[in-house]
Amino acid sequence: MPRIAQEIVERVREASDILDVVSRYVDLKKRGQNYFGLCPFHNEKTPSFSVAPVKEIFHCFGCGIGGSAINFIMEYEKIGFVEAIQRLGEQYGIEVQFAPEKGGRELFSNLYELHEMATTFYHKNLFSEKGKPVLSYLSDRGLEKEILEQFKIGLAYDTWDDLLTLAKKKKMSNEVLEKTGLFLKTEKGTFDRFRNRIMFPIFNTSGRVVAFGGRSLDPKDPAKYLNSPETPLYKKRDLFYGLQSARQPIREHGYAIFVEGYMDFLQLFQAGIQNVTALSGTALTEHHGLQIRKFTNRAVLAYDGDDAGIDASIRAGYLLLRVGIEPQIVRIPDKMDPDDWVRKSGVNEFRKAVDRAVPVLAFHIQTKDATSLPPVQRSEFIRDVVFQIAGVNDGIIRDDLLKSLAQEMRVEEGELLKKMSRQKQRSPKEPFLESQEKSDEIKLTSKVQKAQIELVRILAGQDIDARQIVRKKVHLELFLEPVLKKLAKLVMPIYDEIDYPAIIDQFDLNAERKLITNILMAEIDVSNLTSLVEDCILTLKAHPIKENIKEMRIQIRELETADKDPTEAIIEVAKLQEELKSISI
Ligand code: UTP
Ligand code: MN
Repeated sequence: MPRIAQEIVERVREASDILDVVSRYVDLKKRGQNYFGLCPFHNEKTPSFSVAPVKEIFHCFGCGIGGSAINFIMEYEKIGFVEAIQRLGEQYGIEVQFAPEKGGRELFSNLYELHEMATTFYHKNLFSEKGKPVLSYLSDRGLEKEILEQFKIGLAYDTWDDLLTLAKKKKMSNEVLEKTGLFLKTEKGTFDRFRNRIMFPIFNTSGRVVAFGGRSLDPKDPAKYLNSPETPLYKKRDLFYGLQSARQPIREHGYAIFVEGYMDFLQLFQAGIQNVTALSGTALTEHHGLQIRKFTNRAVLAYDGDDAGIDASIRAGYLLLRVGIEPQIVRIPDKMDPDDWVRKSGVNEFRKAVDRAVPVLAFHIQTKDATSLPPVQRSEFIRDVVFQIAGVNDGIIRDDLLKSLAQEMRVEEGELLKKMSRQKQRSPKEPFLESQEKSDEIKLTSKVQKAQIELVRILAGQDIDARQIVRKKVHLELFLEPVLKKLAKLVMPIYDEIDYPAIIDQFDLNAERKLITNILMAEIDVSNLTSLVEDCILTLKAHPIKENIKEMRIQIRELETADKDPTEAIIEVAKLQEELKSISI
């Protein structure tokens, strides 16, 4: 793969004027600060495609696409980054030369080498004198030396540049160092990304380390787990943790068990359940499904037993159905995760639960108690499920599901068929990748999510005074959504003009870029700014307390049904309510 020197990329970036670039392809009309036209990327009759010349970005409010001038050319001409730079270079008279031939292969082998080096380094740390407390923590959690060795578990000390110092000795270019994702580049310099963490190397199926997950050792750290970013080696959408060792067992057993976390995986694997693999912090995608289908067409989902885990397993279940994998779901009791449960009740309980795993539809109906919902919710439930079923490609499976749904919910199958054909008319079947893109869309619609969007929108806006007002009042911890937190983190330290294309560049996934350009495109209404900001902060600060109260209420009910004394829990709720009242901004 040819490469272009970073300096030339920068020159092209600076020279390309978004309005100039886009208006060669799209007829644009000025409205307010921005320009609007018919979107070249989807069919529309009224213009929702817009260009913000001041910010040097474009965004379509219809289909969500957006980015910098370079992104526009890439999308429009369906070409890669290098070619887009060449085109723009031609257009602006910048000679685009390739850096001295340095094959892509070399980049990859350097990236692998650095990961290997890091793996060995972290692994040694764990077994060093300084690593003793961490080793005993892991052993208290039930992990034996053998499993730690097999999966090369390691330790990043609480230092800033141990790994960097080591990497520098390898005399690799800054570009390679940057691309490993193992280091953080800040204004103050470059540092190790992982510090004070237990390190889980993530292997690809051929057994080479391509990324890391790091579990914080400091309980106060806001990010319990930190994973490598996407790199040329690491594409999150289809990588499973542990699959390098589980593929053979999966083939032999004829099914794969999916768990959420690294610890769940290791605990089960050690206990002899080896046809298991973990998602490790990414939502299951169709690409994951296709990847697993190389080994089996049956999956048992053993996600965490909390509400989030249950909902995620239902979603994952329907997704697997769509790609032709038969999913069953295990219910882990008492909000535990498989790790907790195996440690508490032994691996045989877990095995029994796997044997009793329930098909996704039945599980969905059971957990939502769908048969006894009031009419409106019942109908909504059925509509949602029909929508999921409509996405299943295999006609036989689809019919079976529809039949079961009709039976369980006691409705006419014909009625469901009608519903389904109506839905199909509305959403014609899209080719796989497009629908993948769609399902990748990040939807942030809850009150808490909207509050975060409002705040980050102001922080990333052009009004420097407004930014200052927000900056003084918010902390990064208020942002719960990872994408929004990342954006906030990028713009918070900027006190003057924001380089919007540079910000967008930090987001690799299409879905993220859509969300980000949408946010960056907005103009801020500064009337009532202070009260808007305060409302948002209030919402965000109240949220965890409210969640706590909800949780406690459930506990109280459970205690009452078990004829136990709920007084303590009731006092706790009262305390939380006081806390809620006394939130200050
Ligand atoms: P959990 O929060 O359930 O952690 O996240 P865990 O695996 O039970 O860890 P322990 O037992 O507290 O040590 C489940 C998985 O989700 C991913 C990790 O892969 C984790 O194992 N995750 C979680 C992240 O990637 N980032 C996070 O901030 C949290
Ligand atoms: Mn756990």
